[in-house]
Amino acid sequence: MPEPTARRATVITSLNLKGGVGKTHACWLIAGVCQEQNRKCLVLDLDKQGNISTSLLPNFDAGVGTDAFFNPAIDPDLSTLIRKTTFSCLDVIPGSFALEHYNLTDPAQWKSSGLVLSLVDPLREASALYDYILLDCPADISLITYAALCASDFLLVPLEAAQWGALGTQHVLKTYEHVRQQYNVDLQLLGFVVSRFKRRRKYQTTYLKQLREHFGEDAFETFIPDLSTFEQAVTDRIPVNLHSPRSHASHVAREFFAEIERRAERLRTVRDVRRLGCVREPVGAVA
Ligand SMILES: Nc1ncnc2c1ncn2[C@@H]1O[C@H](COP(=O)(O)OP(=O)(O)O)[C@@H](O)[C@H]1O
Ligand SMILES: [Mg+2]
Repeated sequence: MPEPTARRATVITSLNLKGGVGKTHACWLIAGVCQEQNRKCLVLDLDKQGNISTSLLPNFDAGVGTDAFFNPAIDPDLSTLIRKTTFSCLDVIPGSFALEHYNLTDPAQWKSSGLVLSLVDPLREASALYDYILLDCPADISLITYAALCASDFLLVPLEAAQWGALGTQHVLKTYEHVRQQYNVDLQLLGFVVSRFKRRRKYQTTYLKQLREHFGEDAFETFIPDLSTFEQAVTDRIPVNLHSPRSHASHVAREFFAEIERRAERLRTVRDVRRLGCVREPVGAVA
């Protein structure tokens, strides 16, 4: 009998330095489409606000969650940290205020501790059980966000179509480059996705165009409009594509997911070619 194919999750960190730009909502949309497509998805809530934990767990009690990964006194056991949700394909490791303790923004506070790599082994283990692992980050560059990037395949940057929304992206990109150089050479930029887009505001349309010119291929073609359907689905704690399956919002969610898959596939090919190039070079040098 053929061996069952092992899963190998696509691990995505959702990050921006601004709050309220749709970081959590992006994870929520991806998770919803995973459920619809029968793809197993684990969400790590790394934000002390615990928003996505509250959305996914009906009777959310903080308990021990993602903070366990950063607590040197705990040897985190994935099977006890992962919680089932009411959605058959979606699991979550919740976040709570306990994370505040590890939201250290000065690298001098954590650099020598090794804690920055604390998500790497657990996510490698979890990777065999899921198709997607989503890391929902707070709006900070801290030990927690560094740790997320160290353990991820891809960085997703949701932003609003306004100048002030884009400013934080420079710090995010600097951090991304730093993590690639120091810790995780395989980390790749999945792209910038404009979120909460208000078509009627003319400056947003102009800005969307500029953003695409500026970021080129790194800008998603899909943009996520600001729609009350999205908000309602969040309020009702049901992913929009299950809540209002025929709505425009659901269509956007599915388009967004499809583009993520296309981008991830393309970027993996780029990475593999680069790796092969690295292998070939020394052989050529010997010859
Ligand atoms: N495209 C959208 N349309 C309508 N409401 C949205 C949209 N994206 C996010 N929201 C709502 O805006 C608020 C902030 O979004 P959120 O994803 O939590 O931001 P962040 O995680 O970046 O702080 C939430 O209440 C969320 O439900
Ligand atoms: Mg959030």
